[in-house]
Amino acid sequence: MISNLSKSSVKEAIIRAFVECRSTTLALFEGMDKATFCSQPHPDFSPVGWHLGHIAYIESLWLLERSAGLPCLFPQYRQLFAADGLPKAKRVQLPELKEIRYYLDTVREKALDFLETADVEQNERLWRFLIQHESQHCEIICMVLELAKISISDKKSLCTDEQSQASLDFEEMIQIPAGEFEQGSNSIDALDNESPAHQVYLDTYWIDRYPVTCRQYRAFMDAGGYQNSRWWSKAGWEWLQTEQVTQPLYWQGDRAWDNHPVCGVSWYEAEAYSRFVGKRLPTEAEWEKAASWDVTATVLVENCNCDRVARPVAQPHGVRLPQSGALRKSVLPEQACLHTGDRLFGQTTPVNAYPGGQSVYGLYDTLGNVWEWTASWFDGYQGFQSYPYIGYSQVYFDQKHRVLKGGSWATRPWVLRPSFRNWYYPSVRQLFAGFRCATSDYH
Ligand code: AVJ
Ligand code: FE
Repeated sequence: MISNLSKSSVKEAIIRAFVECRSTTLALFEGMDKATFCSQPHPDFSPVGWHLGHIAYIESLWLLERSAGLPCLFPQYRQLFAADGLPKAKRVQLPELKEIRYYLDTVREKALDFLETADVEQNERLWRFLIQHESQHCEIICMVLELAKISISDKKSLCTDEQSQASLDFEEMIQIPAGEFEQGSNSIDALDNESPAHQVYLDTYWIDRYPVTCRQYRAFMDAGGYQNSRWWSKAGWEWLQTEQVTQPLYWQGDRAWDNHPVCGVSWYEAEAYSRFVGKRLPTEAEWEKAASWDVTATVLVENCNCDRVARPVAQPHGVRLPQSGALRKSVLPEQACLHTGDRLFGQTTPVNAYPGGQSVYGLYDTLGNVWEWTASWFDGYQGFQSYPYIGYSQVYFDQKHRVLKGGSWATRPWVLRPSFRNWYYPSVRQLFAGFRCATSDYH
């Protein structure tokens, strides 16, 4: 039974998350010039200013119109900021930042008014969706800003303090014993594609303890990996002939980055590297099991009885586990390379930088740093139900999108959890994405 006290603390926690999420969003736009705001460095991604307007549009549509029953406050923005309104190339003609700020602020003021009096139980899922929707657009904003930097100049190495750090051996693989685990999530903050949670049996397999590092990936490049069709699938080789790339998009070259995860690879490059080292990409289920925490322990956190704290089922590496679930951030900022208000980071970190963020099985960097490609197509779990609209996930269940897991340095804490699923075409290399490898027969 949920008391009135805990209901109001759920509401307070949600309002706090709304405010915190928004201030981090706005921090990305501080001092931004008009050219950056409106420009489109890559045709597959909209200008950053568009994403900002779209955040207000979705909040207005789902919270004010569909939930509170208010009329549309800014009908003039409907076509511009709806996801299916204009082609991306037409999204470069935008109102000024201050006009979009006015849009955001006005919608937010009404949204907070509504939250004050609204019924928590009826609306909680939607509020949590909106925080995660804004978070995901923030990551795309970071990507577009990064693409703009690349098109202007070569980025200098930003981590001179690591220059002296020796390259470590990150070859270690971890054995994950055969057995069942719970894939997906039924939590109130789970997005539609994460539900329903279900048991999955997996045979024993091995998975890399760390994401593939730049030093490891360099061996593939130096061995002529990009020139030898032997490592590539048919589709991958065809893609490579068209794209003519010879290194990851965010490749730094500099040895100072040796212990950072490789970042900016397509799924095809991840697949080719895996074959080169005699391994393969993990399936999504394999990745998720190896990255998991036991979330069966329900405890009271901050007077909010819907919160859960992870409890280890086993601690092979003797580490404390990250917290998970609800409005508690799924991982603590000191346990992962992620994107928070006081730490916008702007880059990856060495793969061994967060020993406190290891999974139960001892995997490093499953959450944050770089997204990780998996072998799996994005699809709905048995019993999938769309929420809040079929265009959110369902239209992408087309056997053309591969699942990415874990989040990057640009991922906000509200979307950082083992069950979270990201998806893109295998050809996309603009994401802050790397990978780790798996195998079924280790010797
Ligand atoms: C999960 C990142 C692929 O950008 O299309 C944002 C997230 N969906 N608004 C996307 C999303 C609707 C989605 N990705
Ligand atoms: Fe969106």
